[in-house]
Order: sequence, then C-alpha cells, then structure tokens
Amino acid sequence: MTSSTRSNSIVEVFEQAAASYDRTEVSYFEPFGTALVGCAGIRTGERVLDVGCGRGAVLLPAAAATGPTGHVTGIDLAPTMVKLTADDAARAGLTQVEVRVGDAQQPGFPPHSFDVVLAGMVVFLLPEPDKALRAYARLLRPMGRLVVSTPGAYDPVFVAAMDALAAHLPAEQPPPAPTAGPFDDEQTITATMVAAGLDVAAISEHRVESRFQDVNHWMRWMWSHGGRALLQHLPADRLDAATADAARVLESARAPEGELSLTTVGRITVAVPRSRPARRDADLPDPSHGSAASAAGPSRVDDRK
Ligand SMILES: C[S@@+](CC[C@H](N)C(=O)[O-])C[C@H]1O[C@@H](n2cnc3c(N)ncnc32)[C@H](O)[C@@H]1O
Repeated sequence: MTSSTRSNSIVEVFEQAAASYDRTEVSYFEPFGTALVGCAGIRTGERVLDVGCGRGAVLLPAAAATGPTGHVTGIDLAPTMVKLTADDAARAGLTQVEVRVGDAQQPGFPPHSFDVVLAGMVVFLLPEPDKALRAYARLLRPMGRLVVSTPGAYDPVFVAAMDALAAHLPAEQPPPAPTAGPFDDEQTITATMVAAGLDVAAISEHRVESRFQDVNHWMRWMWSHGGRALLQHLPADRLDAATADAARVLESARAPEGELSLTTVGRITVAVPRSRPARRDADLPDPSHGSAASAAGPSRVDDRK
C-alpha cells in the first residue's frame, strides 16, 4: 500500500464516520481538544490553523480563545467533516472561523501565516508525519507554537477488546495497529520535532475517562471514529460473535455505578520554531493547562489523577 492510498483509505473511514464522529455521548475527543487548546496559550486576536479539524473538538475552543478579532482556519480532507463543522461554527455565530477541505500532509498556505498551528489526534495518521511537521514549522511566525496531541496509552481493556474483535477478521486482513509511530514516547516525539526544525517546549500527559452504557454503546462509538477501520473489515456474519467476545472482555471495565469505564492517556506536545527567541514569562501559556516552556529542552507535566 502506498502512502497516498493509506491516506485515502483513512480519510474514507473518517468521511463515513463524520455524521456520528464525537456525537455518541462519549467523552473523548472534546476533553483532549480542550486540553490541547489550553496548552497552546492562544491569545485574543491570534491567527490559528487547525489541521484535521474533524467535528471541531479543537477548532471550537480555539475560536473561543482567539475571539472575534482573531482567525481560525480548520482544514480536513473529509468533505462531510468540513461541511458539518462549518455549519456548527456558523450556527454558533463564529465569524472568525473558516473551515475548508485541505490536506494536513501539505497545507497550502504562505510561510509565517499563523501564530499557532494545532493538530488534534491526527499527525500519526498521516502518510509522512515528519514532512507534515516540517510544513507546519514553515507556517509559524517567529513567536509561534505548534501544539499536537497523540495517543499515549490506551486502556488495557480497550486493547483487549480490540483484539477480541480483530480475532474475527478474515485471515488475509491484517489487524490495524494502534500505534502512534514517531510519537510513541516522549524521547521519540522530541527527536521527531527536532528533525522537523522545532524545539519541544513541553510535553504533558492528559488522562480522559470515557464511559459507555453497554457494549452496544461502545460499538456505536467504535463505528464513529478510526475504530471503524477495523469494524468495516469484519464479515457481516461474524459481527454478532465479535461483539459478544468484546462484551466479555469489557465486563472487566464495569464501574461500580454500572457503566463501562475506559481511560486513555493522551500526550500534548508544544513545539516552537528553532530560531525563536527565548520567551518572556508573560508569553507562557497558563501552567494550569500542563504546559511550561524552555526552548532549550522539554519540560514534562503530568495532569493524570
Ligand atoms: C481522529 S480525527 C481528529 C479530529 C479532531 N482534530 C479532533 O480532535 O477531534 C482525525 C481527523 O483527521 C482527518 N484527516 C485524516 N487525514 C487527513 C489529511 N491528510 N488531511 C486532512 N485531514 C485529515 C480525518 O478526516 C479526521 O477528521
């Protein structure tokens, strides 16, 4: 599979998921998006690019942070994501928001167009993340920030439930690997950013708990995001058996209140252009959002409870 067919098939998954993406009453993308925007320390009036904007989990809080005097451009390759998110922004009266179809692999904007580039749970999906990061670095103004979220650790019960589903895939279908590749750990993230011409200012970990009424709710959520890539390869006559196996695994995540509870740790990385002058204290994002800055090296903040 070439990198562009991989990209096309991933975007096709999200295009099909768009109507229900982040709309299944499960807390997941929204809290990670809010945390990412907090780490970016966006100021009123700034110009922001959100790549792979999906249904606006990052874009909408970013627009609240810039206010009407700023500007937020969201790009996504899935046309339905773009349409629904543009509609939501218009309905909310966010005149500072523009959403359009665009490629996060190579966003076509002039150099130094943005104060902040945001990428929520998307860079590890791109065919060539290293090249994409270099492109984002070129888009930043001298005091700009690139802020990226990536999966840190999935709940072991989630991984086991995915394995239970994947056991029903046809023999010729490789199970999708839930790996963040060049973002697998803090050392790798730092090396990836440095190779892209950026310095890491902070890497923080954020823990999000997602709750599900039952396995059917969990499956509805799985169809609504990248998990769909696995489900769509399950033969129709295996779906019930696969769901029953996943249900047995998920039982071990049942909380005392009766719901299934899965916890995901996400990482948020704040990176700055290499040539950027050292920041004054007043430039630092609010430390309560888990970010601290030193152009010389990453500081690590963990908000896990
Ligand atoms: C996991 S979702 C994240 C969406 C959003 N940032 C959030 O935090 O909820 C990934 C998004 O990236 C989009 N995407 C995947 N590859 C892309 C590409 N090459 N260019 C633009 N968008 C892409 C998908 O369509 C999907 O909306």
